[in-house]
Amino acid sequence: MTAPKQEVSLGMPQLPAPAYPADVRVRLEADAKEVIARYPDSRSALLPLLHLVQSEEGHVSRTGMAFCAELLGLTTAEVTAVATFYTMYRRRPSGDYQVGVCTNTLCAVMGGDAIFDRLKDHLGVGNDETTEDGKVTLEHIECNAACDFAPVVMVNWEFFDNQTPESATRLVDDLIAGRTVEPTRGAPLCTYKETARILAGFPDERPGAVEATGGAGAASLIGLKLAKGEAAPQARVVSPRGEAPGDRPQKGAEHLSSHDAPQQTSASDPDHPAGPAAEEGE
Ligand code: FES
Repeated sequence: MTAPKQEVSLGMPQLPAPAYPADVRVRLEADAKEVIARYPDSRSALLPLLHLVQSEEGHVSRTGMAFCAELLGLTTAEVTAVATFYTMYRRRPSGDYQVGVCTNTLCAVMGGDAIFDRLKDHLGVGNDETTEDGKVTLEHIECNAACDFAPVVMVNWEFFDNQTPESATRLVDDLIAGRTVEPTRGAPLCTYKETARILAGFPDERPGAVEATGGAGAASLIGLKLAKGEAAPQARVVSPRGEAPGDRPQKGAEHLSSHDAPQQTSASDPDHPAGPAAEEGE
């Protein structure tokens, strides 16, 4: 273990962070050493170590940051700078399920804003707030590179594609009631703490979890197929917006998004060719 660096305090002196209980400390230290050993420079292990301490308390506490600093020979200021920069680290207690609604441009115009507003009213919480039962934390999230499936909702970083206000409401109701919910693709859902441990670099040992992660979704791959001449540019619109209640897209099912519909171009729409409008009488 490395001695923590000398810290220069510019403000009011702060009380030392409380220590972990002895048994927790022993367990976390063994896990942390396993993570640190993967890197030639110990400080490179900071990101996974922050996930590790997050897996213990559900957020990155002062205790967790002091633990990381001590094991990596960093100052708590250095650890704090990293922990506060990345939004995947939570700085206060949060729910078992972090429900993130993408409200970046594409998802927003495709219904993300409406989904967020509906969930806010339905759950009675605002952005970055947790329901009283401690089950769900609601938050705006940035683009998750799944714009093909907009609007996207993520629960503990698992994808729920092509959502509507109605389907997202059913989703949070199921989470709160403890019913099993299946992400549209990827590994089975687990709690926020369990997710944090996987992100720390410990294998997901649930049966079938690794196999379930699969590859890119069909809507993401269609451009590649078109480029290779493996698919014809025909309309393939399958919009779950018209689905019957309770009829969610199934994992692995072909559920291309409405964005895949070819646009009307001069080639496909000869009545409206592209180019400068002809002057009358020409
Ligand atoms: S804008 Fe929502 S996933 Fe990209």
